This record gives sequence, C-alpha cells and structure tokens, in this order.
Amino acid sequence: MSNLIVLGAQWGDEGKGKVVDLFCRHFDIVARYQGGHNAGHTVRIGSRKVILKLVPTGILRPGKQAVIGNGVVIYPPALLEEIETLEAVGVKPAGRLFISNRAHVLFPFHRMAEGVSEGRPGRVAIGTTSRGIGPCYEDKAARRGIRMADLLDAERFSELYQRLAEDKATLREAFRLSEPVGGEKTLREYAAYAERLRPMVTDTAMLLNRAIARGKRVLFEGAQGTMLDIDHGSYPFVTSSNASVGGASTGTGVPPRRIDGVVGVSKAYVTRVGGGPFPTEAAGEDGERLRTHGVEFGAVTGRPRRCGWFDAPLLRYAAAINGFDSLVITKSDVLDHFERIPVCVGYKLDGRLIEELPATPRALSAVEAVYETLPGWRTSTCGITAYRALPARAKDYLRFLEQQAGVEIGAISTGPERKQTILVRGSKLEKLLRG
Ligand code: GDP
Ligand code: IMO
Ligand code: MG
Repeated sequence: MSNLIVLGAQWGDEGKGKVVDLFCRHFDIVARYQGGHNAGHTVRIGSRKVILKLVPTGILRPGKQAVIGNGVVIYPPALLEEIETLEAVGVKPAGRLFISNRAHVLFPFHRMAEGVSEGRPGRVAIGTTSRGIGPCYEDKAARRGIRMADLLDAERFSELYQRLAEDKATLREAFRLSEPVGGEKTLREYAAYAERLRPMVTDTAMLLNRAIARGKRVLFEGAQGTMLDIDHGSYPFVTSSNASVGGASTGTGVPPRRIDGVVGVSKAYVTRVGGGPFPTEAAGEDGERLRTHGVEFGAVTGRPRRCGWFDAPLLRYAAAINGFDSLVITKSDVLDHFERIPVCVGYKLDGRLIEELPATPRALSAVEAVYETLPGWRTSTCGITAYRALPARAKDYLRFLEQQAGVEIGAISTGPERKQTILVRGSKLEKLLRG
C-alpha cells in the first residue's frame, strides 16, 4: 500500500488544495508536515469554497483522518476558528483530526517580532504573510519554543510562557514598540485553548506509523512550495520550514522508506507572492492578463500574486531536489486566452548559459530567462476531463513542458473543481494512486 507526498514545485499556491482533495479518496489519512496558517489551500466543491490553512485538506472527505504533524507551527486561535468554520458548513473534525504533541505553538508576540524584522529601516523585507511563522520557527531552532505537550501541562506552560514573553518584552523595549507582549491575559486565553484542543493532541508519529503498519495509506500534504523551502528555496526570500520532500519525514516522524512516491504540483505558468527574484516574471500587460484570468490573489492575505511564464530550469531544479515521480499541471485553462505562450527553457548569467540555479538572490535576479514561444490554442479547455479532448496545441504545450521538466505529467487540472481534472491513463501517477 503506497503512501504519497503532494507538494508545491514552485513558490506556493500551485493548487495543492485542489489536488489533495481530489487524490485523498484513495487514502485513509492526510497529514500536513510543515508551515502554519501562512498556507491557504482552496477547495471548491460545487458552489462551496473552503480555504484551509492549518487543517489538512482530507478533513473535507467523510471518514478520512487528518493529522497536523510535529513540523507544523500552530496558532491556536486560528486553528479553533478554522474548526468552527468547518463545523458551520457541516464538516465535523472531532474524532478525525489529530494534532502532534510535538508541534510548536505560535503566540501573538511572534507576530510582533516579525514586524520588527520586516519593518526595520534598511532591511530588505521578505514580504511575509505577517503571521509570525518565522519567529515561531526561530524559537523552535533556539530550543526555547513551546510545544503542544507543554501547552497542555498548565504549570509548566505558565513557566515557559513567562520566560519566553520576557525575551520578547526585551525586544519590544529595544525597538520601542507600542504593541503589548501579552501577559496574564494571553496566559489565560491559551489555557482555555489548551482545554479545547486537548482531545485532539496525541503522538501523531506513532499514530501514523501504526496506521501504516496496519496497511492504511497516508497522503502527505505540503504547504508553500519548493522555492520557498528554507534550505533549497530562493533564500532569504523563503518561508522558515522545509516545504520540499525531506520535510514530510522530519515533519511527521514517518521514515522516508515508508513513503513511496512524490508528486509535484505546478501551475502551467508561475506565480509568487512577496519579495524576491522571479526570473520569468511577466511585467506589464501579460502579467496583468495572467493575474486576471487566473484570479491570482492570495488566499490568505488577498495580495495580488506576481505572475510570469513557465520556468523549466526551476522545475528541473525542483524535480532534482524532490525526486518527483509525476507532475500535476494546474490552471492550464488560464492559458486559453493567450495567442502566444513563452516558456523559459534555460538561464543565462553574464551572457552564458548556466546549468545550476544560482544560490544568491543577487545572481538569481541577474539571470536572463531564455524563452521558446509556443502558439496558444485560443479555445476553452475549462473543465475538460479527457486528454484526447484537449486541443492539439494544448497537448503540444503540455508535451513540451513534460520534455523540458524531464518528469511525466500524470494529471492536468482544467478548473478549480474536483471533477475538472484529467488523469493521464497509464501514467505512474495512476499506479501510485491505485496503490
Ligand atoms: P494552494 O495553496 O497550492 O492550495 O493553492 P491556492 O488555493 O492558494 O491557489 C490556487 C487557486 O487556483 C485557488 O483559487 C484554486 O481554486 C484555483 N485552481 C486550482 N486549480 C485550478 C485550475 O486548474 N484552473 C483554475 N482556473 N483554477 C484553479
Ligand atoms: P500555500 O501553502 C504562497 C510566502 C510569503 C513570503 C514568504 C515568507 O498556500 O502555497 P512567511 O509568512 O511564510 O514567513 O512568508 O513565503 N508564502 C507563501 N506564498 N503560498 C503560500 O502557502 C505561502 N506561505 C508563505 O508570501 O514571500
Ligand atoms: Mg495557497
């Protein structure tokens, strides 16, 4: 029985929510392994639209279990609000949602700390989601973080919280901030959150490993994307966790050898939110058209996403880092509107073709994208569910991406809804889903 990772191959928002929602009927458990409420995974089921931030997408399928792994950082009010929103639309997480006792807890002062690093004069802002995600992972790495298990231990929590809050108060004074760090009031609020979350908190690594041993199937749901990975992404313009393949193992406690496949989700073009280099960014009219037709506005912050053309060197890099078995190409229908579609096939730096992705933001910004331009198909492909029904030029475009990426395209998403998907017959992806 195979377990599968589904993760973003670009800078996030590739359509992971839709893909996980579609695939999870083949699995028993969906597990998130990193990130926090910076993620926004959109699922459209008929006229219903749900945006999941912390809760794994599998929760929307009756009978499936959902796990928030140890690699995730949890802001309890956001999680509880999400649970309430789900309950309001008839989804009941109770008894199906499990939270790792080793996941780190995020506090309001993390957001304050992020304001300091993002807003300081002379600093290049990352353009974060302002959720405090980075500072929470900072505390984790500094070994002073507070985990779910600590939150549930009232006495210990009070002590740990006060110590950490003192650190943040020092920061507040040093930067003369007006925002309160939060003392007794926060402590009381978190004590109440603890009681509401307690029934869901458990050792999820053991839960997952036991389930796998019993033949249950796990789908690992990535947040963000490979280029936002703290190690392999466009550092420092990244998030603070491992969004790429390794995160699935460290962020859940499931050994790599129990994971059987890795699927990369990529748009048929590229988007990015926030700052940082973007070699194929289409400034001007083309970028505007991609944004309009693709409705490219952040699911969490509402910020307009920067848009550009498909970047094959970037995807080859993501494929190397993650070992993709298959790709899902999303939003190909957005390209229905274009007469000509440029695809970046190589990078030039100082006039010379380069094979490796530059490590510094300066060099990645200086990269010149080398394009091949393909003709558009200029007809609607929205909602097509059979490969043969695609126009010839759309098939040519997809075949070109496949060749350039060096990985099979196992599925094509032709619209935001579950059903608006083509699963390529005989693909490796089809076999992986079948188990
Ligand atoms: P995620 O963070 O990777 O889950 O992606 P987001 O939910 O942030 O952004 C993807 C957006 O594209 C959402 O609004 C989806 O409903 C939408 N979407 C997903 N797949 C498709 C597709 O194939 N075509 C179109 N037109 N929209 C899609
Ligand atoms: P999903 O899971 C797109 C980006 C932010 C910023 C950088 C760091 O929906 O694909 P952070 O708040 O994480 O410290 O911000 O990462 N970012 C995302 N971009 N999709 C996301 O999640 C993102 N989560 C973070 O815009 O550039
Ligand atoms: Mg998103």
